[in-house]
Order: sequence, then C-alpha cells, then structure tokens
Amino acid sequence: MGASRLLAAAAALLTTVALLWTPPPPVAAAPRPAAVHKITYDRYSLSVDGRRVVLWAGEFHYFRLPSPELWRDVLEKIRAAGFNGVSLYFDWAYHSPRPGSYDFTGVRDVDRLLRLTDELGLYVVARPGPYINAETTGGGLPAWLKTVPGRARSSDPNYTRAYREWLAHIDPIIARHQLTRGGSVIAYNAENEYAANTDASYMEDIQRQARAHGIDVPITHNQCCDASWTPTWATGQGAVQIPGVDDYPQAFECREPDVWGTWGDGVTERLSPDAPAYAAEYQAGAIDGNRAGYDKCRELTGPAFMKVYYKSNLIASGATMFGYYMAYGGTNWGRLAQPNDVYTSYDYGAPITENRGLTAKYDEFKRQGYLVTTVEPLARTDPSAAPASDNAAVHTEARANPETGTQFVLVRHADRKTNADESATLTWNTPDGTYRLPVRLKGRDAKILLGGYTMGGQRLAATTSELLTHVTADGRDIAVLYGTEGVAGTTVLRYASRPKVKVLSGSVRASYGNGDLRLDYAHHGLARVEVTGGGRRPLLLLLGTDAEAARFWRSDGVLVRGTSLVRSAALRGGTATLRADLAEAGDVEVFARVRRLRVNGEDVPVHTTPSGTAQGRVAGPKPVRLPALTGWRGTTEAPEAQPGFDDSTWTPADHTTTASPIKPPRPPVLYADDYSFHHGHVWYRGRFTPSGAETSIKLNAITGKGGVYQVWLNGRYLGSAAGGEQKDADAPVNTDPGPGTFPVPAGLLPAGEPAVLSVLVENMGHNDDWTADDVRQKQPRGLVTASVDAAWRIQGTAADDPVRGPLSTGGLYGERHGWHLASTTPTGWAAASPTEPTNPGVRWYRTNVRLNIPDDQDIPVVLRFGGGSGRYRVLIFVNGWNMGEYVSGGVQHDFALPNGILRPRSGNALALAVIAEETATVGPVTLAAAGNVRTPR
Ligand code: GAL
Repeated sequence: MGASRLLAAAAALLTTVALLWTPPPPVAAAPRPAAVHKITYDRYSLSVDGRRVVLWAGEFHYFRLPSPELWRDVLEKIRAAGFNGVSLYFDWAYHSPRPGSYDFTGVRDVDRLLRLTDELGLYVVARPGPYINAETTGGGLPAWLKTVPGRARSSDPNYTRAYREWLAHIDPIIARHQLTRGGSVIAYNAENEYAANTDASYMEDIQRQARAHGIDVPITHNQCCDASWTPTWATGQGAVQIPGVDDYPQAFECREPDVWGTWGDGVTERLSPDAPAYAAEYQAGAIDGNRAGYDKCRELTGPAFMKVYYKSNLIASGATMFGYYMAYGGTNWGRLAQPNDVYTSYDYGAPITENRGLTAKYDEFKRQGYLVTTVEPLARTDPSAAPASDNAAVHTEARANPETGTQFVLVRHADRKTNADESATLTWNTPDGTYRLPVRLKGRDAKILLGGYTMGGQRLAATTSELLTHVTADGRDIAVLYGTEGVAGTTVLRYASRPKVKVLSGSVRASYGNGDLRLDYAHHGLARVEVTGGGRRPLLLLLGTDAEAARFWRSDGVLVRGTSLVRSAALRGGTATLRADLAEAGDVEVFARVRRLRVNGEDVPVHTTPSGTAQGRVAGPKPVRLPALTGWRGTTEAPEAQPGFDDSTWTPADHTTTASPIKPPRPPVLYADDYSFHHGHVWYRGRFTPSGAETSIKLNAITGKGGVYQVWLNGRYLGSAAGGEQKDADAPVNTDPGPGTFPVPAGLLPAGEPAVLSVLVENMGHNDDWTADDVRQKQPRGLVTASVDAAWRIQGTAADDPVRGPLSTGGLYGERHGWHLASTTPTGWAAASPTEPTNPGVRWYRTNVRLNIPDDQDIPVVLRFGGGSGRYRVLIFVNGWNMGEYVSGGVQHDFALPNGILRPRSGNALALAVIAEETATVGPVTLAAAGNVRTPR
C-alpha cells in the first residue's frame, strides 16, 4: 500500500465499505443489481476486490431464535458493535425431520437470513457441517441418522448418501449469497473440529460437493483444540484453503469466574504458511455445564478477559480472521439442546443476552471492533521491535505494517493473570521519532497502542491512549481515544508548523516542539480538544474513559454519542437520520454539521455545541406493566396409564435388530428412534401375564442427562427413576443406563390376569458426536430393557409439525391432541391454577394473555417460575411453540418468549404441561420484562 493511498485510507475505508456494502435504506427499496466481488487471500488476510479486510465476526445461531423478525434486531446489534461479519452454523437436524424431507420455510428460512446479511453488509462464514456440534441435539446430525447403519462423519456409503442429501439442499442456498455473486458469504467452513477419528476422503468429498453446488469462496475448517488434535487439514488429502483454530482459553467452569486461562494463553496458531491465521471460534462466552448461571459465564469471559486475551491474540498471532463464539447465544427452544452440557437457555454469557440485551461485554467488543475495522494497516502486519519497557512486569510486543510502518504495540502484564497495578516508561521508536512515554496497567488489562498512523488527514505519531475510531465529517477529522479512568495518557501528533490548540472541555496540557504536538492528560470523563492550522485539516480529538468510549456509535460512517444503540445513521443535506434504541431519556450528539435530526422518524430539536456538533435530547420509553396470568383452566391427562386405554393404533415395538452400537441385552429393541419417535416424550405400554411371583418390576431407560421416566402398573403409579446419560463425552459408553426397581404393591398383579405396564420416558435430546466415533451420537433413547416379558407398543409425537419443525412437539397425550395449540379449544377443562398441587403424572394448564406493548417499544418478555415444591418439570408452550422446560431445582427460572412467537399486541395462548414425579406444587408463574427500550417501528 503506497503512502499517498494510505493518506486517504481511513476516509477511503468508509467509502470502500459504502461501495461494496451500501446497505439499502431500512424501508424496502427496489432491488438493485447486486455487485459481484472478488475474494483473494494470502498469508496476511482476506481481500475483497484487492482491499484487505480483517474479518471480525460474531457467531449467531438462527435456529436458537425462532423469530425471523428478530434476526434483524440481533444482526443490527452485532453490526453496531463493530463486527463486520457473522459466523453461521446451519443445523441439518433442524431442517430434516426424516430422510429425504427438508424444510427451509418460516423459522427455517435461511435464504431470508442470508438476504438480511447481504442487506446489512455483514460478511458470512457459512458453516453447514454436516456435523456442527454447537451443543445442539445430535450435534446437528438428524436423529433419523441414528437408524442408518454405518459410521457418521466418515465415508461410509450410507452416511455419504445422507450427508450429500443435506449438502445438496443447503449448499445452493449458501452459494447464491456468496460475495462473488453480490451476496455476503465470504467463506465456507467444512465439517467441525474434525479430528480424533478422521477420514480424509470424507473431508475431501464435502468440499467436492460444495464446489459442485457452486461454492467458490475459500473453504475453511475449525480445528479443535490444540496440536494433539490432528490433522489440521492444512495439507494433504482433504486439506482446506484456510485452516483455522478453535480456542476457549478460559474453559467452561463458570462457578469460578476468577480462575484465568485454564486452557492456555489463547494465542491463535498459524496452520498454513499461505493463508491468514484464523481464530475460527474464539471464546466469547461459555456453556454452563456446572449450572452456575450464565451471568457467571459472562463474568468468566468478561471485559478484562477480553482485553487481555483478544488483544494479545491480535498482536501475538497476527490473526486477521476471527469468529467470536457466541455474539448472541439464544434459546434451546423445543428439543434443540444436546443434554450433556446445556439446558433451555443458551445465553452463553455472550455480549448480547438471550433476551437481546447489551452488556459490558458488548461495550468491550465495540471498543475493540471499532479499532479493528477502522485501522486498515492492521490487515497486514509482521512482528516488529517492541518499545522497551523499564519494568519487567510490563510486557510489550509489537507488529507493524511493512508498507505503512504503522505500529501496533501490545502492552500487558508479563503475568497475564495478575491483578496488579503496574507502571512503566516505554522507549518507543516510531516511524516519526523516538518517544519516552509512561504507561500504566491498573488491574487485569491490556492495551493496543498505535504509532506511525495516518489518521484521516492527521498523523498520529504515538499514543498511550487507545483508538476507538475516527471519521471525517465536513472536512474535519474526529477521533476518539480512550483509557482507564484516572490513568494518564499522552498523544503525539505531527504538524508542519505549530497548530492552534483549543481545549474545549476537560483538562489537557499541550506542548509543541520539533513538529510534535504533545497532549498530556488523565483519562477522566470526556475531554475535547480542537486542533487547527499546522498545515493539516482541522481535528476534533475526544479523549475519554472506557465508559465514555462505549457511549459512541459509528454507523455508516457517522459518529454519534448517546442513545442505547444506533442501528443505522444517514447524513443528507444537513439532516441526520438515526434508527436508534433508547433505554432512557438522554442527550444525543451527532458529530457533523447538522441542522435537523430525526430519530426513529421523529424530529429532535438540536443546537450546535462548542465542538461544532449537533446535540438534542431524546425521551426514554414509557413504563409498561405486563398483565398477570389469570383465568387458567386445567385438566389431568395420562390416560395411557390406565389399563383400559386403547393403544391399538400405536406402533408395535417388536424389532429384533438395531443400528445402534449399544445393543439391548435381549430383544425386542425398545429404542424410540428405531420406531421414528425422535424427540420429546414417548409412551410405552407393555402387556404381559404375571406369574404372581413378581415382587418388583425392573426397568432400564436412557433419556440423556437430566431426564426421568415414570411407571404405572395396571393404572397405579409406581414411581419414577432417573434416565441414563452419557456422563462425559470422553467416558466409556454407559451400558447400564438409568436402572429403576419398582416394588409391586400387594395384590396388584394377580397371577394369570392380563396386566399392563405403562412407561413415560422423556428424551432430553441426542448426544453429540464430538469425537466422531459414532457411538455417543447413536446412543439410544427410550426403554432399554424390562424384567417382564411383555408385548410392547410405543407412541411418540403424533405427526410432523410443518410450522414448528421436528423439535417442538413430543408425545404427551396433550401434545398428540393439540392442547398446546392456540387453535384448539379443549372442552371440559375446569378453572384451575398451576400453583395448586399436582398429583404424580401429567396435568395441563391453559390461559390466554393479551399484551399491549406499544409498537415503538421493545420489551423482551420472559415467563418466570417462582419456587415450588416437589419434583416436577414444566413444558412451556406459547402459541403452540415449545419454548423450553422448567425443571424444579434447576438453575433456570426465566424463559425467553421472543416476539414473533409471542404476539406483543394481541392475544397469546399459553399452555403448561406439568409432569410431576411426586405430588408437587408449581410456584407462581408470571410474565416479566427483561428490558424496555424505545425502538424504531
Ligand atoms: C467447540 C465447537 C462448538 C461449540 C463450542 C463450545 O468445540 O466447535 O460447536 O460446541 O465448542 O460451546
């Protein structure tokens, strides 16, 4: 990159982004012919049409937000945080209820999702697996695959037929949204952490299929977890073009958020000498395996961790491709969860909460993301000499752009884990001169300092503050620098002659000599300095704290301060138009010469500030009271438990063989999947003739972690037992899962008289296939064996649900008869309350609730469970959609009801199926608001 080109680099960046990515206005515009782009890469970075990009992507799972209307909300939030891309898994199991059947409509309309990323100008790394892991049921492998003989994730012919079917459906959708065709897909990820048990022909074939389906962007792979996981797919058969690495340096013990770096230093390895270093998944949250609650996971992976690890990673590895896992986690609604690690919420402690709220982590992402997507020379750097530190406890490390000389200096504690307060003086040789500058790390911290940077029309020689971003408006450069509250900062700018310096607010000392304008200050609040003359165009320098920096938004090249979120901004003919969220009343300031300000379609009176900006005041949201849940009606079900129940239409469970590697001790095979019942509850009824000698019934069922099964004999409840689980992904296969012994009450089994055993088994979801051994994934669900010789019948989900897909509806009597659906009006239900005691078994409650949330407010609603008593669980249905399962004694009490599923301005059918293992009382059930903002209509 030549020097003259660099001079215009920052301004040009915005222009270029606009050329490549101009987002259409929010209102539907006439479709324009899409521009096609060329993607190339070398050892430094990806390039689009010859211009280098640092890919700064956040992971998003559309399948964990069953509300396409809200995809835009989350993607706009991701974009506003400074991400220029998203990493998207595509979940085979979510789209395919059975072999040959695929659905890409409604909440599964991924073409709509990719139209949105095209429109928002977010680069996409498309990750269709076929295996994705992601703590989804089966790791994304459809449950029907459990009945297909042959090892999954290999070139076994049966599996090959199956995954080719998936790729033939998903690849063409992805292909038509590639950047090369005017869309947003910049890369395609083959498989997922494919190591341990590998088959190069399979890796090769996924890529051959992709190419045949029109994929022409670079193909990537995400290697787990360290060098012991081989191969890396960097060379040899099955190699991809850009091999990447997954890294979770904090591990997942959210109960101990202060224990740092359990899994290492978190520096991304370069796997190929010819491709950029790629942090395909970099930890941005955690699963909550030990049920600490996601707030603790957010702490474990909070701003201090992000500063130290993300910044170290950028400078130490020189990686220019990142996928932060997760930007937004979402919800394991229905039966989406893989049971070993997660529950209904997949909040993940991510920067954007499950209820779409923005957190302190979001602010930190913004601080780093704005830097990364502003400073173009970062896309091509080599290791370079670092400034010398006079304190061994303060470590420095640097990279520089070989063309521009721009330096990026990492300053961190030598001991990454320390909380100490350390100061040092750096002797720093920059392209503009040598400077001795003080730095300080107050607690867990790391900084990236810039030197030798042409910042719009300015020359930044060196600074010990960090750059948030800079823009050029009305012939003036505006730059935001920030640092820790109370810590001193120095910024040196170069001028041909002494410029005029005016401190508009705050306390800043200016001195000039040898072409250097040196500004010294302590970071506190927001200081403003105007610099004019000196042979350069004017500069407005804003010097803030971390918190002040987080109040800025850079949207479509416009710098704004204030509001809770700027979704989009436009400047035209002296009018600034913002689409913004407002959590409270406050000032909004636009850093441009503006006569008129429109926020969410309304005029906001503005005045011109001494900084030459336009400032106005916006109102916050109206308080909204959510209605109480009243008018419940209830009924008790489980007729299946009664001996006289007609089960003649149920499927006989009489198979003698199974594709599962875990064989039952004796026939028949009772596994639910073998009878095509893959999700939720299944019922078994076994008829047998007792000898009279039975004193107990012994059963064995496998439900996945956290599941239970319940047993009735001749209509009498015998009790429940914990279903089996695969305790740990690395543990040997559990061959004696979920044993239960149920004593037979005296007189209940007269010899020779036909008896009926009824068993309700919950399926908590399917194991993943993390280690590609096919054994965990094919672990059965349902009854394994019974001590009585019975003729069994089985019944699960009654029919495919074309709207909600395969994972929403299970096989409870009420589910089979549509009691969860808004369209059904069951008769004969009596006035009831979920808080009244429920006997062992299944009891349903329904009510309707009318909401009246103003259409310019976003109020994420949750269903909240108070304390209750006894062992029970509750399936939550909203307008027919299974939005999760409350488990008594569990960690989750609030269940997200996303708008789209919930109708914010009309009636809603709420149904609860209480499954009690003993006489139990459900605690109070209420609606609660998880936020309240004014938002664009
Ligand atoms: C990775 C995997 C992801 C997800 C993550 C943990 O190893 O690729 O799909 O499972 O771990 O949340």
